[in-house]
Amino acid sequence: MKNSCYIAGFSYFVPEGVLTNRDLERFVDTNDEWIVSRTGIRQRHVAGGQTCSDLAYEASRTALQRSGLEPGDITHIITATFTPDAYVPNAACVIMEKLGIRGIPAMDINAACTGFVYGIELARGLCQLSSGSRILLVASEVVTSRINFKDRSTSVLFGDGAGACVLTRESPGGGIPAGYIEDVLLRADGSLGPLLTVKGGGSGYPLVLGETVGDDFFVQMEGREVFKHAVRSMRDVSMDILKKNNITADDIDLFIPHQANIRIIEALAKLMHVKEEKIFVNVHEYGNTSAASVPIALADAWEKGRIRPGQLVLMVAFGGGFTWGATLIRF
Ligand code: COA
Repeated sequence: MKNSCYIAGFSYFVPEGVLTNRDLERFVDTNDEWIVSRTGIRQRHVAGGQTCSDLAYEASRTALQRSGLEPGDITHIITATFTPDAYVPNAACVIMEKLGIRGIPAMDINAACTGFVYGIELARGLCQLSSGSRILLVASEVVTSRINFKDRSTSVLFGDGAGACVLTRESPGGGIPAGYIEDVLLRADGSLGPLLTVKGGGSGYPLVLGETVGDDFFVQMEGREVFKHAVRSMRDVSMDILKKNNITADDIDLFIPHQANIRIIEALAKLMHVKEEKIFVNVHEYGNTSAASVPIALADAWEKGRIRPGQLVLMVAFGGGFTWGATLIRF
């Protein structure tokens, strides 16, 4: 049986607060020229008090409106995040309460920056279990809550935001722009985990009452190594999903890679022979928003008229774990 799953109602939300490279210069030893030339990032949005569920709620409300659904029509909520409001309750439960929904399954997944692509595959599986599935998938991150703003190697890279969509077994129809999930490929390699970590507070790194947190409470990363693996892994999984579907990069109308660093995106596109005009980039505005990066880019691309009916979109992500994955969507 062919896996039937459609994606619709994309939307994103970023907090109002903007932190420019010049702002960062005031409290960390860096400069705008370095950040732009090494990463492409010019600014990032920062939550400043808003939580993961606050951002998720805003993105989800619009996603539901755009898909013509009421919160009560949703059958499952999946949240992709590594920065939930709390460990318990999970973010999906907090979001469901904000949306006024009760009595349906609500779960979080953590695949770091690949969380949204992992969520699509989970939703696709759930759609096969029940023909009436209408799944709210929201990726939301307040990455800055886990950033050490004294560490210049990480603090310049990340931002906060959320991206949401609805996935259904049946085509939503009407005037709703919907994409058919042609395929998803997911990968992970735990042996590379130590290269990108957020340890503090986990059961392996418990916090002690009354003690201040240490460096390991925040994102820690071997930047150069992560860079190499990100390019290689995203190239491999992208080429594999193209091959599996008997197509080449030329058949792709829009390429939406994880927005971590413009140099990673350029290196990836070069290896894959994807033409520049087919690549969607917004890393300069938002920085790396982890799991929210791909759905923010998807919704931004759609709002900018970059996705038209009939087009084939390839999305690919990479993150801590390491995890990585790609999905092909026909609009
Ligand atoms: N401002 C100014 N200088 C900085 C800096 C900053 N924010 N961060 C590092 N530097 C310095 C380093 O100290 C080093 O100085 P040195 O040559 O005197 O030792 C120099 O810049 C080069 O550092 P390096 O780490 O080699 O730079 P790079 O070109 O590899 O760029 C990253 C660093 C982090 C931008 C890059 O490695 C990267 O993007 N990695 C992937 C990160 C990522 O995307 N992670 C998330 C994946 S989901």
